[in-house]
Amino acid sequence: MKPTLFILIRRVYLLMLCSLVLTACDTQQEERTTAPKESEKRSVPNVEWTMYGNDFGEQRYSTLTQINHDNISSLELTWYFDLYTKRGVEATPLIVDGVMFVSGSWSMVYALDATTGSLKWFYDPEVDRAFLAKACCDAVNRGVAYHEGKIFVGSLDGRLISLSAADGKVLFDVQTTDRDQSYTITGAPRIASDKVIIGNGGADLGVRGYVSAYHVDTGEMAWRFYTVPGNPADGFENETMAMAAKTWTGEWWKWGGGGTAWDSIVYDPELDLLYIGVGNGSPRNQQMRSPGGGDNLFLASIVALKPDTGEYVWHYQTTPGETWDFTATQPMMLAELDIGGEQRKVLMQAPKNGFFYVLDRVTGELISAKPYTQVNWATEIDIETGRPIENPKARDFDNPIPVMPFMGGGHNWAPMSYNPKTGLIYFGEMSVPQSYATPVLDIDREPGHGYWNTGFNSLAAAPPPMDDVDEFMASIAKGKLVAWDPVRQEARWEYDHQRTSNSGTLSTAGMLVFQGDSFTNFNAFNAESGELLWSREAQTAVMAAPVTYAINGEQYVAVAAGWGGGGAHEAGALTHGWNARNKSRVLVYKLGGQQQLPALSLEEETPMSEPLPVTASAEIIAEGQVLYEKHCSACHGGGLRTGGINPDLRRSSPAIHKTWQDIVIGGLLQPLGMVSFSQFMSSDDAEAVRQYVLGEANRQYTKQQASQGEAAPPEA
Ligand code: HEC
Repeated sequence: MKPTLFILIRRVYLLMLCSLVLTACDTQQEERTTAPKESEKRSVPNVEWTMYGNDFGEQRYSTLTQINHDNISSLELTWYFDLYTKRGVEATPLIVDGVMFVSGSWSMVYALDATTGSLKWFYDPEVDRAFLAKACCDAVNRGVAYHEGKIFVGSLDGRLISLSAADGKVLFDVQTTDRDQSYTITGAPRIASDKVIIGNGGADLGVRGYVSAYHVDTGEMAWRFYTVPGNPADGFENETMAMAAKTWTGEWWKWGGGGTAWDSIVYDPELDLLYIGVGNGSPRNQQMRSPGGGDNLFLASIVALKPDTGEYVWHYQTTPGETWDFTATQPMMLAELDIGGEQRKVLMQAPKNGFFYVLDRVTGELISAKPYTQVNWATEIDIETGRPIENPKARDFDNPIPVMPFMGGGHNWAPMSYNPKTGLIYFGEMSVPQSYATPVLDIDREPGHGYWNTGFNSLAAAPPPMDDVDEFMASIAKGKLVAWDPVRQEARWEYDHQRTSNSGTLSTAGMLVFQGDSFTNFNAFNAESGELLWSREAQTAVMAAPVTYAINGEQYVAVAAGWGGGGAHEAGALTHGWNARNKSRVLVYKLGGQQQLPALSLEEETPMSEPLPVTASAEIIAEGQVLYEKHCSACHGGGLRTGGINPDLRRSSPAIHKTWQDIVIGGLLQPLGMVSFSQFMSSDDAEAVRQYVLGEANRQYTKQQASQGEAAPPEA
């Protein structure tokens, strides 16, 4: 049988890559080494990775040089460990006292021997799978925190759990959220002296954001800081909330307001400040959330707090009146930079809105901001006022233009790294246009929580209904590795990837940058020139950030690989143009490593069998499509294009269609993460969705039949 176009593209791509790697190997033939000699090992100190971003400044830079340009061709796998789940992996592993602590999907924690990969202990917080429907972007977890013999993990269902690093025993387990609301935790906790700080997510489903601090030993809550004001009638928690409320209008609290701090929180021991990256509004559409406009503090802001008390110190808002899902939750990095001959203590961020910001972190003053990707919602950031000069067309939702960046951002959660020797910051950029149109459903104009309520027309945001939509999306959606000079505010070099959603980065004094990609490769680049020096097949997309460490004189590079997350759930057409299966797995490399991955059979997609016929009118099908995009696309993919994690409903069997009502309304598959939608739709609505699915299934089937016809050998 003729392989599908995607498999062909992928094979050609793999061949191209092999020839690239071979050329690299040829030129380095003479220098090729295997494992380091004993004498060489003695000069290498033990180096661990004990914090999410390696150091407090989260620079993700390692001083290790054993692995470098001269010997990278002999960097090979030394061990791998298959995680127990098949969902997205976004965690940065920690390495403490020879043990690797890594979290997988559903907030599970694995403690592995860092030199051999053997399992020391495993902890499963037993998250109720129904919480998948409260999560915007898969059951991911970005990692654990370590402090004095204790491991801390936030669980998807909103708990902060402390474990003994020695054996994984639970030391405390506290609920940090209201389980009846759509709060989740996916971010890594951070330690600020004797407190562990944790945020949460849920702004897409109608909640009010906050961060909380707990005592590291007791799990007792020390303080909580809300990121947006609540209902003024209930009284404000503090003066800061009263100040923030002056920047809101209407009855925002009914919508939750949003501003969840779901990822970046950084502690600065030098200034004793805690920086919080705050998320988007709930709903996203500001015209509904705060109809009279206003800045809507502290949405899309960086807020500095006193870590002891949670008291407000300063803030900088990246996107006043946030309306495009432009979170400022992206990784924040602290450094000292020479700016105009002056050493400045800076905080840097490349948030979703497409500008790279350098702030003075003592005062929050804006030093500079320049676009790192294609941006059209604003022309520039005014340095005097610190505010963007907006393009008014980007807020005209009755006449929508394709806005850049898209709601996934010019850069998202994938961590960036810094190399002080090149002065460059390395991160994955994404360039995708997005439509933000006025909603068509009345339900989108009502406050509410527990369902995706962006306040926009979800149909307009779906991929266009065309046959070659996957190829089309690939042509308009691009991703790059960017090496950014934060002083000159410009890219020094860029490396083009095939698609978006490439991984976080690691920088080393071996003058290397490590980054994985969504085409299943784990790569190393020359930190100065951007040349691709090394690449190994990971057999799965790599999203999380790599780390490096040295034990007994040998340097290791590790990455937690595994496909999933927001892109895989919502935007399959953007991300899943190929047939890689998720293999959630930790991969660890060293010079002269001897391990090999089990052979990967490039699975050819099983052909579809003939779907059931459509029985409803075109009108019902159209209704079904709107309902699908509103309620189902967040997991089963916009335009029914899944990212390979949740089922492709076009391929559901007649048996599934028979139990459709029991699944969608009755909640039959709730224990597997597919909740009941009875709160949001009637049986007739569920049937309309089914008819839309059948229509698309038949369209896909007809296309498949046609391409098989083409492949048939010409008749003699
Ligand atoms: C929060 C994520 C999420 C949302 C939103 C969601 N689903 Fe699901 N759905 C799942 C998961 C996970 C499964 C797979 C369960 C399993 O492992 O079999 C699933 C499975 C299904 C199945 C069974 C498919 C098969 O072939 O096995 C159907 C039918 C289904 N969903 C319909 C819907 C419809 C209709 C909607 C919108 C009204 C919807 N889903 C919204 C997560 C979701």
